[in-house]
Amino acid sequence: MGDLATLTQQALDEVAASTTLAALDEVRVRWLGKKGLLTEQLKSLGALPAADRPAAGAKINVAKERVQAAIEAAEARLADAAIAAELLAGRIDVTLPGRGEPRGSIHPVTRTRLRIETIFRNSGFEVATGPEIEDDFHNFEALNIPSDHPARAMHDTFYFADGRLLRTHTSPVQIRELRKGRLPLAMIMPGRVYRCDHDMTHSPMFHQVEGLVVDENVSFANLKATLQGFLRAFFEKDLRTRLRPSYFPFTEPSAEVDMSCVFCDGAGCRVCKHTGWIEVGGCGMVHPNVFTAAGVDAERWTGYAFGMGIERLAMLRDGVNDLRLFFESDLRFLRQFGAA
Ligand code: PHE
Repeated sequence: MGDLATLTQQALDEVAASTTLAALDEVRVRWLGKKGLLTEQLKSLGALPAADRPAAGAKINVAKERVQAAIEAAEARLADAAIAAELLAGRIDVTLPGRGEPRGSIHPVTRTRLRIETIFRNSGFEVATGPEIEDDFHNFEALNIPSDHPARAMHDTFYFADGRLLRTHTSPVQIRELRKGRLPLAMIMPGRVYRCDHDMTHSPMFHQVEGLVVDENVSFANLKATLQGFLRAFFEKDLRTRLRPSYFPFTEPSAEVDMSCVFCDGAGCRVCKHTGWIEVGGCGMVHPNVFTAAGVDAERWTGYAFGMGIERLAMLRDGVNDLRLFFESDLRFLRQFGAA
């Protein structure tokens, strides 16, 4: 049985020397497997006298259990080591500097809208908005544009199957605000508008800002003062304005708003087509039919309204020469408009 002690020690040494789970398994098979070296010892019991067999068998089983226990302990040790190695390899160094977040910027059209809002708010105007999906009544009928009116053809309207439409201008918000019956009022109404029209200077979606002032005894002179004050504040230039007679169904009288060219100060250049003037919008005194359609007493109240294109104002202020740049989402363009 001295042999058994040697064999056991040899098995334990091999267990201790195993550095991988696979090597450990080989050791297990060699010593404890069906034909393992310790298992074989049990077979030699037959050569012993019957009286000695139980004690000898018990010793062999004790030896096998010792080796088995050593293997299990080694297995646990190797598994722990494997987890520790994995944790070490996947460790995150929280002290490394971050990759940084690229700084975004406000879209030039939004930036321009906010600038317009600020200027008007500073002179007592409120800001209101209305839906982009409109009905015929608000977009046309109530604005004194009945269904047979030639002005409808100029609007290139996108219609839905149910007769509703994408508003072609922000003027329907005038109707919505007037119908609330809170007078007097002074407000601007910025937002998206849609026209079935696309080329270098037209986009099927663009932005307008509507203006509406209603009070007793509002005059055309008030309108001109408001527009000139706004344009001077917006462009930060001592520019001049002029109103050219025009026609809109919802204002009477109506006018186009021109300002002296912000590039040549009226001397004449390519941008103003050598006229010295740049058109920036339409305006006029609210037509009595509009008041009536909106439930406002046209005998008591007077008002003026105007509408301007926000992209156009942005282009003139920021020197952008192609309207389409605003809608292409090209970061090289957008990045030029850093801070708001
Ligand atoms: N709604 C007109 C347009 O889209 C602009 C406008 C607004 C004109 C208010 C007069 C008064 O062209």
